[in-house]
Amino acid sequence: MAQSPSDFRSDTVTRASATMRQLMAEASVGDDVLDGDPTVQRLEQAAADWLGMEGALFVPSGTMANQVALGAWTRPGDEIIVQRFAHVTTFEAGAAGYLHGLQSMTVGGETGDFSLEQVRSCVRPTFIHCPPTSLICLEQTHNYAGGRVLPLQVFEEVSGFAREAKIPLHLDGARLANAAVASGVSARTYASHVDSVSLCFSKGLGAPVGSIIAGDGEFLERARLVRKRLGGWMRQSGHLAAAALHALENNVARLAEDHALARQLAERLGALPGLETEPDLVETNIVMVQVQHPGFDAKALSEALAQEGVLVMPMGERRLRFVTHLDVGPADLERLETAAHSLLS
Ligand SMILES: Cc1ncc(COP(=O)(O)O)c(C=O)c1O
Repeated sequence: MAQSPSDFRSDTVTRASATMRQLMAEASVGDDVLDGDPTVQRLEQAAADWLGMEGALFVPSGTMANQVALGAWTRPGDEIIVQRFAHVTTFEAGAAGYLHGLQSMTVGGETGDFSLEQVRSCVRPTFIHCPPTSLICLEQTHNYAGGRVLPLQVFEEVSGFAREAKIPLHLDGARLANAAVASGVSARTYASHVDSVSLCFSKGLGAPVGSIIAGDGEFLERARLVRKRLGGWMRQSGHLAAAALHALENNVARLAEDHALARQLAERLGALPGLETEPDLVETNIVMVQVQHPGFDAKALSEALAQEGVLVMPMGERRLRFVTHLDVGPADLERLETAAHSLLS
């Protein structure tokens, strides 16, 4: 049988484990829209408790979780403040404008930098010519910046300011679990500084599908309506929620293994000719590698590695992204290093 590829493209590529599949098959379900689905309700409660929020809504994807929050907090014509390379503004296909009539004021650059000073300078005055600033978005960890953890101090400073200015804060916490494990700061602590938070089960946590959007009181009511409008309220979704629940209960602490492997990957690839990495900046499970080789740009190297059974993602002309997860281990790193070494030497 042919060897399956070593897939470092994303932590979204994981396949449900045997236990997860069994739990999915055996989940007790109901019509979540008509009378509620008991497994979805268990997941929503567990996720809300984990985040210290009043409630949570199960949705199909991280994109929908973020877009539910944007729709719930804003009105058409409003402006949101968001990091320049945040998923919400860079990788959601213009949904903020397409779905909700929003424009984005972006701050910072490729390093994921985001600070109170940057945010403060972007808030619009109350003036008939200006769009109202109605939401500030954070991202933890920052995908494009290579899984960087936004310091707790930034949460504290921005939330102090936002609360005074009465501007809600949304956290794209697709990989919040990675940040919690890497920093030792609990997800609850990060979440206590924001008004809504999304969390993906289909990334490092290893479920095949599903995210939640969590928050309190009136936000949840508005979010329920937006989820319905987006078609994200599902029926016997307990089969999916069972996988997500298993992921939340069992796969958080092990993220430390992914982080250690990512760091090794950065160290070992950085030692190869024509590749540059910054191992000290690898805090979680994402590694950005600069390809400075005369014979390859990022696309050409990814194609050559694919021929050797190693899949990676180009992110820019000279930038490759590697992500570690449940379905890659030391043997895959070995395979990657051997293939890259023979191509680049
Ligand atoms: C930071 C971040 N937010 C949101 C998402 C969207 O998740 P989904 O692919 O489930 O829509 C991603 C996906 O990679 C992400 O990296």
